Amino acid sequence: MTIVAADPRSIAQAAELLRDGRLVAFPTETVYGLGADATNDRAVAAIFAAKGRPSFNPLIIHLAAAEAAGELVAVDDRAAALARRFWPGPLTLVLPRRPEAAVSLLASAGLDSLAVRVPAHPVALALLAATGRPLAAPSANPSGRISPTTARHVAGDFDPPPAMILDGGPCAVGVESTVLDLTGRQAVLLRPGGIARETLEEELGPVDTAAATADPRAPGMLASHYAPARPVRLDAEQARPGEALLGFGGRAPADCLNLSAEGDLAEAAANLFAMLRRLDAPPQRAIAVMPIPRHGLGLAINDRLRRAAAPRPSSPLVRRDG
Ligand code: TXA
Ligand code: MG
Repeated sequence: MTIVAADPRSIAQAAELLRDGRLVAFPTETVYGLGADATNDRAVAAIFAAKGRPSFNPLIIHLAAAEAAGELVAVDDRAAALARRFWPGPLTLVLPRRPEAAVSLLASAGLDSLAVRVPAHPVALALLAATGRPLAAPSANPSGRISPTTARHVAGDFDPPPAMILDGGPCAVGVESTVLDLTGRQAVLLRPGGIARETLEEELGPVDTAAATADPRAPGMLASHYAPARPVRLDAEQARPGEALLGFGGRAPADCLNLSAEGDLAEAAANLFAMLRRLDAPPQRAIAVMPIPRHGLGLAINDRLRRAAAPRPSSPLVRRDG
């Protein structure tokens, strides 16, 4: 079995596999990542192959500590202040790539920027320290599908599985990191995530939002993503025949899965992907989701749900995010 409980011994083995150019799935506070040694071109290429991810969609580089970022990217005062406040944590900063950065060019997909973050999970941090290299790690799901928040989700999604899946329990945040582009003078929110926009704006002032676009500056903002196999209907008040209802708050019927009966957005984010996966099974033919407020973590939840509900690309030529 490739799922192994994370402990000092399995983390040391995982680090060995990573240094050998193999892929290891590991927990972060947001979702499970599919990690590779970011300095190894072949290992990074193997991530794109395993996920079926388009090569134009760049990867996040995970670091053991904020100090390591300066070797890879140009860290300005804004980035330094955000790193001090939010790292380790669910914030990814897109910054100008240093020409001498020892990271595979494939990882940044030919862009002159690089996305970096320090994850707030003891297993991820121990793995990064033991490997002694930056790790490129997208969410550990096939491109376009629902992100994994448990080790079992990862095991069910890949054939063949990664060399090892480190099990660190369910992810506490449950939605991916917030991706913020700081390559220009104006900060641009490329993906809402685990750090709320309002919280970032306390630090930075107003932040722009990237419109859903195929602009290579925002390759992750693609319409269909995080998609269950079944169709998804949003802002539903009740289920229609054949639909499973995903509830939110106290108005939801008692017999449906409820993201948070108390209406707590952090709890809803933590439950989102696991509940979508549970409902994406027979006998259901579709999934209907109750309305969710759009503030705080609700922005990220609604973003993921909107992409889950978007028309699916029927042709391999249509772009998909990873
Ligand atoms: O929470 C997370 O961020 C998780 C965990 C594993 O860290 N990772 C994750 O990675 O969600 P992934 O590959 O599924 O999403 C990375 C996002 C994509 O939307 C990608 O387009 C964007 O970050 N991205 C990466 N590098 C970029 C760059 N240089 N410029 C703009 N966007 C970038
Ligand atoms: Mg992803």
